[in-house]
Amino acid sequence: MDASTDQIKAGRIDTDNTYYELYQKSVELGTWDAEKLMHKVGFEEDREVWNSLDDNEKEQWARLISYFIDGEHAVAQDARRIMKTVSSPWFDRSIEKEMFASALALEEAKHTQFFDLYLTNVMVDKFPQYELDTRRGGIQIPRTEACGAGEMFERQGTLQAQAADGGDPTDIARAATNYHIGVEGILARGGYFAKNRMMQEAPLKLLNKGFQFISTDEGRHITFGLEVLNELIEKERDGVPAYQGVENAIWEQAVEDIGYITDTAYFITESVGDPLDVDFDELVNRGARLAGDMMFDTLDLDAGSATEFMQAAADAMEDAQGSDYEAVIEKYDHIYSAKMAGD
Ligand SMILES: [Fe+2]
Ligand SMILES: [Fe+2]
Repeated sequence: MDASTDQIKAGRIDTDNTYYELYQKSVELGTWDAEKLMHKVGFEEDREVWNSLDDNEKEQWARLISYFIDGEHAVAQDARRIMKTVSSPWFDRSIEKEMFASALALEEAKHTQFFDLYLTNVMVDKFPQYELDTRRGGIQIPRTEACGAGEMFERQGTLQAQAADGGDPTDIARAATNYHIGVEGILARGGYFAKNRMMQEAPLKLLNKGFQFISTDEGRHITFGLEVLNELIEKERDGVPAYQGVENAIWEQAVEDIGYITDTAYFITESVGDPLDVDFDELVNRGARLAGDMMFDTLDLDAGSATEFMQAAADAMEDAQGSDYEAVIEKYDHIYSAKMAGD
């Protein structure tokens, strides 16, 4: 007879806890292997499709994938800070959160590995510069640096450090909003929307397979982040003094981030002529709706409203229109080359 989970009694671990359930899902479902996937699917078909694309179509893919590899790398680096934050006394229980945060750290490392292998073996002609460790060279890929995503990942590092190093509940709320709602919940999921559109014209099979595994992992990370935010909000609503201001911090951070995200959406679509038909307006709309669902359905936020958030996204769209990124990419190309050459 099988010993199912509910027959096994745990001691200090609360097996009814949502974080524990998410952890168990990671242990069961998060076990895919990036190297094995590449051996199994192979690079041939993807290389063939890639080589059939014109330079502008390649550029559109390169802009999307740039922010994915730098973004996955950035969230992997900050996972250690999440582990520290969730172990702080601001939370009633930590053990199950720490267990899940360790799974998140492994998964983000794997996502970084997937994009690194894929770039190197398929898209390398569009990526002469991607090899520097951002922590050693201090710079992301020039395309990432040129758009809002680059700023957003830098902001993420600062916010996560503030939260982990003695931050109060509003610092934790800002950091979790930026990481789980902004980067994972909107920037990454908006990216899946874009890649689905682009795959219609340019079906990159191996890339698509990797994205499927990654988006399943990300679903758990987002659920985790919303649970953490919900705990902080509940304390605020219960009137605990140290938690006052949490909802406002979430709202302010989300509005700040929609500016970076919308700029990134413009960067990967209209600014390059959108040859693979993503549609800037639909992409921003999708992102704003995802944000609205998380903030006003799941978290039931009193600060701000879905209408105000749509307005913030519309304002950001106007700001992004007509931005020219070429000069910025070129500037960072030079900086990156100098760093590669050892300064
Ligand atoms: Fe990831
Ligand atoms: Fe993630």
